[in-house]
Amino acid sequence: MTRPLLNRRLAAFGTTIFAEMSALAARTGSINLGQGFPDTDGPEEVREAAVRALREGRGNQYPPGPGVPELRTAIADHQRTRYGLEYDPDTEVLVTAGATEAIAAALLALVEPGDEVIALEPYYDSYAACVAMAGGTRVPVTLRPHDGRYVLDLDELRAAVTPRTRLLLLNTPHNPTGTVLTRAELAAVAELAVERDLLVITDEVYEHLVLDDLPHIPLASLPGMRDRTVTISSAGKTFSFTGWKVGWTTASPALTTAVRSAKQFLTYVSSGPFQYAVAEALRLPDAYFDGLRAELRAKRDLLSDGLERAGFGVHRPAGTYFVTTDIRPLGATDGLDFCRSLPERAGVVAIPNAVFYDHRAEGAPFVRFAFCKRTDVLEEAVARLERLA
Ligand SMILES: Cc1ncc(COP(=O)(O)O)c(C=O)c1O
Repeated sequence: MTRPLLNRRLAAFGTTIFAEMSALAARTGSINLGQGFPDTDGPEEVREAAVRALREGRGNQYPPGPGVPELRTAIADHQRTRYGLEYDPDTEVLVTAGATEAIAAALLALVEPGDEVIALEPYYDSYAACVAMAGGTRVPVTLRPHDGRYVLDLDELRAAVTPRTRLLLLNTPHNPTGTVLTRAELAAVAELAVERDLLVITDEVYEHLVLDDLPHIPLASLPGMRDRTVTISSAGKTFSFTGWKVGWTTASPALTTAVRSAKQFLTYVSSGPFQYAVAEALRLPDAYFDGLRAELRAKRDLLSDGLERAGFGVHRPAGTYFVTTDIRPLGATDGLDFCRSLPERAGVVAIPNAVFYDHRAEGAPFVRFAFCKRTDVLEEAVARLERLA
């Protein structure tokens, strides 16, 4: 057989860096600060809510295609009370198998072969794969460090739009850079989308992990954006239950119908009992969300300070679980080589940011560490990393 098994669209997406680095962590007994999942579970009452749903037989059979009404209503209430955005739970909210399925369904639904999709680079790895599966062409616009944060070059964004551009794929707070797009940046994106009549998919899974004293601004709240934007979020990060895979979209009825058309042939439905639990979680008091942020802020600072002492250049993130570092002050230039040798040298695993770039050279000297881990784990990681200094 001469023809490769994996089709051409996916040929470039063999194994992910996460699989390679997690295997390396296991083989070397290293602390894994590669993949972004918490090493402790979320609130006990939310876990109990899932147990109750299971026991009471809620969600043990196929839930409704768009999601259980309790969760869709809780999502609509969340968007209204937090952001003043009104969505009809029956026609404008869709529950998905994590944000991952929402991203896939939205791209498969909205992109025709040949369409261009502009994404902020570095980007979450599923974006590239899903654009490819949809037959689209990704057009990266690079975020670059400037004055302590990664910034979006608005001229570059504008120049990236062509007559073939179908949509912008945004992510704020942004993985892996930790940037939270400012109101001015979002306003410029919105203006461009309106002017060029573009759709926007915005991945806001880290909406509750804005760690500095900044607001999270949903793109859909800007003028002209509500009816051209598919907003994606998920319970995984907000409630520290990444294995439950409960995500959702909020969008106009027409966009929701389109996304649902693709979603129904991916998983159809998922996570029945967990949907009920997440409906309760979204109604937790503000103290929960404030507490989560405070805890993660302390962890960000613990890891960032330690990385600085170890000699890294540190881009302290305004949001997310991740801190991006510059390895050049340590005399290294290639993040992939650096990450492959770090377990031997320091007993810690990190992710080379280059894998999140099309312009690999732009990302070469940057390495990402996750800080959503127990404090004692981070302290041990920092002690190990300081040996590099
Ligand atoms: C930017 C971004 N979007 C989406 C996801 C996936 O979310 P979920 O676990 O809900 O599928 C992640 C997880 O790391 C992420 O970082």
